[in-house]
Order: sequence, then structure tokens, then C-alpha cells
Amino acid sequence: MKVLAVGGGAREHAIVEALARSGAQVYACLKNRNPGISRTAKGMLLVDENDVPKVVDFAKASGVELAVVGPEAPLEVGLADGLNSAGVPTASPTKAAARIETSKSFMRDLMSKHKVRGAIRFVVIDTMAELDDALGNLGNDIVVKPTGLTGGKGVKVFGEHMKSRKDIEDYCGEILGKEIGGSARVVLEERLVGEEFTIQAFCDGRTVVPMPAVQDHKRAYEGDRGPNTGGMGSYSQKDGLLPFLRRTEYEDAVRITEDVVRALRKEGAEYHGTMYGQFMLTREGPKVIEFNARFGDPEAMNVLSLLKSDFSMICGKMALGGISMKDAEFAPKASVCKYVVPEGYGTKSLAGEEIKVDEQAITREGAILYYANVNEKDGKVFTTTSRSVGVVGLAESIDEAERIAEKGINHVSGRIHVRHDIAKNHMLDAKVMRMQKIRGDLK
Ligand code: AMP
Ligand code: GLY
Repeated sequence: MKVLAVGGGAREHAIVEALARSGAQVYACLKNRNPGISRTAKGMLLVDENDVPKVVDFAKASGVELAVVGPEAPLEVGLADGLNSAGVPTASPTKAAARIETSKSFMRDLMSKHKVRGAIRFVVIDTMAELDDALGNLGNDIVVKPTGLTGGKGVKVFGEHMKSRKDIEDYCGEILGKEIGGSARVVLEERLVGEEFTIQAFCDGRTVVPMPAVQDHKRAYEGDRGPNTGGMGSYSQKDGLLPFLRRTEYEDAVRITEDVVRALRKEGAEYHGTMYGQFMLTREGPKVIEFNARFGDPEAMNVLSLLKSDFSMICGKMALGGISMKDAEFAPKASVCKYVVPEGYGTKSLAGEEIKVDEQAITREGAILYYANVNEKDGKVFTTTSRSVGVVGLAESIDEAERIAEKGINHVSGRIHVRHDIAKNHMLDAKVMRMQKIRGDLK
């Protein structure tokens, strides 16, 4: 089967490898020359991924029978709608269904209208005149976000990025003035306290087939400090849970995802594709931080490296319906993914620097390599402003998987930065302790 994959990061490299493993001939549309994707793909077009007519023309010319879109920006401009209309079933949501990610106010309104569990207190404002009332309602202990897409970087948290009421006012003023994320609206919401986790699920409009839980690390520096990034690394546990996450809590989060998929269908926006739920595990159980209309990056590398089932078949069923639990089998192993990023990533990335990636040595260590937003020129690999390569270890325990990922990373060199602390035992122990305190198990 010929399948189109859109996007050029490590998430998409993982998607392309999973499709190829299931026997698909992959055609790729991406804007940078990703060495991993370019090697595996049968055909490739370097193009602006948001240029719907060009991507649709390429899909028709290559004769693909199915498509999957990696990043969110093309979904927001209706790439899945364009592909579906051109007769290419697409395992990614339409523009209307992708609003679950592209509009944070839509997501919060949908959850409250349909009384989905895991909803939190929030207010959306369009003008500064509404701020007084909103803060009267919510208090100052809040999180402020532009309602549109910001690549995970537009969120400010009280106590961290904002210390006073004046800071809140200044940031709201900035958003309303600048149209950050393409829409001058602000979401103010209660600040949640707990541990974050991700559950991704395959959805065919009705049925939700959940994958193992994953924990990402958004902060640029060790010890969860520094600016928010797209994600620096992630891990999952052999049993699909996380060291601090109980099975009942995992199941609660899956139920919330099911409720959201049902609510979208009731609103006439049937959701086909991978749904990404980001949850905060609080004292009262999982609460929704956000939904994304796609795989997470890096989280895609964890789950797709573990997937044993035929990914093309899964994508076909997500697009056309008929998916069930038995369609998605994952190897019962732990996974650890660490990102190699350019020096300065999170503030000002050192782009255009050559990095050396010894692929054979990485493979010899038993690690898996996924290329991210790098550019290949004359056989050399250069950084961009985004993340560079993801390295994944799979093993019986998180500890062992972490060691494999670290050994792999030793074979990438240049002016790079890595969060070596991700998935190390002391980090995991601290999270378990913190969650025990929040639950009230420890005084
Ligand atoms: P988002 O772009 O919505 O994923 O937010 C980025 C980060 O901000 C999340 O990973 C959380 O760490 C933090 N965050 C977002 N919303 C909340 C919230 N309501 N309470 C606490 N932290 C939040
Ligand atoms: N890892 C966070 C995201 O993909 O949005």
C-alpha cells in the first residue's frame, strides 16, 4: 500500500518507520531534508506542509491510498479535509475536529458543555475590561494562555512566570495586543498541582484505543528548570503505566478521552486520528491540561518504537472506521527517549551548525535513532532552530532503557544540549514521593 506521511520531525520519522515496517511504500511531504525520512521514503517532496493544494497534488500524483499528518499546523489549515475530498482517506482530523487542539477556548467550552470529567475552572476573555471579573472569579493562582497554537510556549504560570497581579495584567495585555497564536483571546484557568502525563489513543470517530502512558519533560534544563520547549525527552513503563500513575487513574484518563471523542461527534466533528491527551494527575485524579490532534513529539517515538501491530492497518481503520482494542499491540517493555537539541534551544538555538551522528555506533548500542528538524546537505547534517535527533532505548526496565538511550547519545557530537537527568532513578523517585505527598499518603 502507498501511504503519504506529512511532516519532517522525529515524530514523523517514527511514523514513517512504523509505516515502512508494516510493508507500506511511504511518500513524504516535508519542508526540511530529514535524512531518516528521505532514506526510507519511496518519494519525497520538499514543500511548505501548510500548502494544501501542493500536498494534495503530490498525494494524487503518487497514487497514495492513505495519508497521515504529523504536525498540527497543516491540520489547522484543513489539510486532512483537502486530502479526504481528493479521495485519500486520512488518519488525521479535519479542521473542525482539530479545534480540540487549535483552539484552547473551544476545548474548554466543549468539555464544560458536555460535562466531561477532568474539566477545570476557566474564563475566556476578549478585552482587558473583562479581566477584573475573571480574576474575581478565579483568583490570581492561575495559568494564562493565548487561545491559539503557540508550539507549547505561550503558557505562563502564576508563581513561576508571573509573580503578581500586575504580571498577569501585563501578559494578558500582551496577548490581546499581539494576537499571539493567531487569535486575540486569552484563556485564564485554575493552576493545577500534580504530575503531568500523556495518553495517546487511536480514534476512528467512535472507538478509542489507548496506548501506553508516557511522561514528557517540557523544560529545557535539568531538574525541570528553564524555558518551556517542545519536549526534551520522555519515558514509558513496561506495564503501560508510570511509576507515579495507578491503573485506575490511567483508566480515568482514557474515559475522559472517550468522552471528548463522543462530544466531538455530537458537535458534528467526528475525530479520526491519533488523539493526544495531556493530563495533570492531581489529588482529585486526572485533570485535562490540553488535547492535541496528533501524536506527541517526543511521545510518538516511545509508543511507535513499541508498536508490534501493523501501523498502516491502524491508520486505515482510524481513517475509515472499525478499529478495536485488538488492533494495537505494544511490546511489554519500558522506553526512554532523549532529544539532542542545538545549544541554546528554548531561548536562541544555534542553527546551521554541523553535528556528527554515528548511526552504526548508535545501532550497535541497541538504541534507535530518529532524525528530527535537521537539514542534510552534501552528506552532512546541520542543526535548525528546532530539535535535532531523538534517541530511544527499549528494555525490561526504565533504568536499563535509560542506559541504552544514554549510550546511543554518546555517538552524537557537536554544539548540542541533552537533558541527561530524564528517566534517571533519582528523578523517578522524586516524582513518586511528590505524588504521594499530593495524594496525602505522606505527611
Ligand atoms: P500547554 O501548552 O497547554 O501544554 O502548556 C504547557 C505547560 O504549561 C504544561 O506542560 C504545564 O506544565 C503547564 N500548564 C498548562 N496548563 C496548566 C494548568 N492549568 N495548571 C498548571 N500547569 C499548566
Ligand atoms: N510533547 C508535547 C507535544 O507534542 O505537544
